Amino acid sequence: MSEQKEIIEGLSAKELFLPGKGVTYDGFIINPGIADFAFSKINLKTQLTRNIAIQHGLVGAPMDTVAEDRAAIAFDLEGCFAIKHYNNTIDEQARMVGNVKAANPDFINEPKVLPQNATVADLKQIKKDYGFSSVPVTVDGTLDSKVIGLLTSRHARNNDDVPVEAVMHPAGDRLENLTTAPEGTDSDRAQELMIQKNRKRLLIVDDLGRLKGLVTAKDLDRRKSHPHATVDSNGRLLAGAAVSSYKEDKDRIDALVDAGVDVLCLDTAQAAKKRIVNQAKYIKDKYSHIELIVGNIATIRQAKWLYNQLGNRIDAWKVGMGVGSICTTPDVAGAGAAQAAAVYRVSLWNYLNSLDIPVMADGGIRGSGDVVKALACGAKTIVAGSLFAGTAEAPGEYVYEEGVRLKKYRGMGSIEAQREGGEKRYRDAKEQILVSQGVPGFVQDKGSLHHFLPHIIKAIKLGFEDIGYKNINDLRQAVYNGARIFEERTAASLAESKPHNLVKYREEPIGGK
Ligand code: XMP
Repeated sequence: MSEQKEIIEGLSAKELFLPGKGVTYDGFIINPGIADFAFSKINLKTQLTRNIAIQHGLVGAPMDTVAEDRAAIAFDLEGCFAIKHYNNTIDEQARMVGNVKAANPDFINEPKVLPQNATVADLKQIKKDYGFSSVPVTVDGTLDSKVIGLLTSRHARNNDDVPVEAVMHPAGDRLENLTTAPEGTDSDRAQELMIQKNRKRLLIVDDLGRLKGLVTAKDLDRRKSHPHATVDSNGRLLAGAAVSSYKEDKDRIDALVDAGVDVLCLDTAQAAKKRIVNQAKYIKDKYSHIELIVGNIATIRQAKWLYNQLGNRIDAWKVGMGVGSICTTPDVAGAGAAQAAAVYRVSLWNYLNSLDIPVMADGGIRGSGDVVKALACGAKTIVAGSLFAGTAEAPGEYVYEEGVRLKKYRGMGSIEAQREGGEKRYRDAKEQILVSQGVPGFVQDKGSLHHFLPHIIKAIKLGFEDIGYKNINDLRQAVYNGARIFEERTAASLAESKPHNLVKYREEPIGGK
């Protein structure tokens, strides 16, 4: 085809996101491109924080109806991440962090152990508190003393007052029958040994016979089926938790770090405040190994001010103000920013200043299409509440309304959530009056995250194939280089993109439930 005069098809990001224009995810669409690569080549690996990469940038929001330990473990196993909320006591939140760190997909490096003189009641208590059914026994119940036996769920069937020594495996003089392996054994060798010795559990011990780890066949199988799990440098699941700017939360921060947290999220409704700066300094100056997410912000002005105060203490920005599905802040405070534009502007400012601080696009994500758009706006990950609420692993019980299975999902700024601790996100500790900035509601049952997340991820990849990019960086680079891939949506184009001309239709939920 001979080159005619150039016909301009789409808008560049600069043309779409004009200053002062409140562009939302619904306000634009990304034009299709050319997928000159196989679908299998699409890779969504991304930066969660400056120093942590994850396979899929989907993050469960720090909300009490979204992310506790059970959900966090599922997110991690699927290569995603979740931030545990702070509407709880310090002990409760620290225990959740401990549970995530202990739910090792590979080796359990610090298993719960019992002393020689424990009883079956103690074993039952561990199962109740932590859900573990394999419990090694050491001489004095610490990891530093010699391992002498192993208890499993079979042993918990005995009466409470039976001493574990009387029932544990191996009993008495058959101590050499305990299946052990030396430190440094990798998962393939561990599996080999377990098959050889026909055992479902393997104890890792040092030269002095002290316990260094526990491997179970179940964990190894789980690990194999989740090759992209989000783990720390020791192969343990990555744990994240939210904290507030309250002075009292310094104790919470210390406890969470003790429990093994990897990522802290300083989670507030508006981060550009002096007390947020003080808390961020407390965290990073005391615990430089912790990755710190700072949020929420929605403008370059806020980012600049915070960066001037905190510099490289910030390991990720959480961007989004007044855009959550349960949020009423723009009506209450008259403040906020359209989300797509906010994500684009803060990301661009980072990029132009060569700051490698990933932007997490928080709130307003309704499905995979919005994720693709958020990534095109420059986000490295998305944070969502309503999208992940209602899953089997989200906190809360299911209820039925008119035959539909629902779970509660509420704003952390709703009065009921604020009364249980959520107020820390919205006001200073000294203020007495609670102002509602969110609503409580319900969302539909979405099944297990282990089913739901892979569906969303596949849908995002389909989006990348349609627009012709095989990874997030290529897309981002093209946008910053001025690629004309955006189209502004008119009301008519929005209507056109929904089912129409049908007498009746049934919405098919994501995940094909
Ligand atoms: P989505 O749209 O994913 O939004 O349900 C979740 C995000 O909304 C924020 N959030 C709130 N914002 N009032 C607000 O103004 C609230 O009560 C509230 N609760 C949560 C938060 O950033 C979350 O990740």
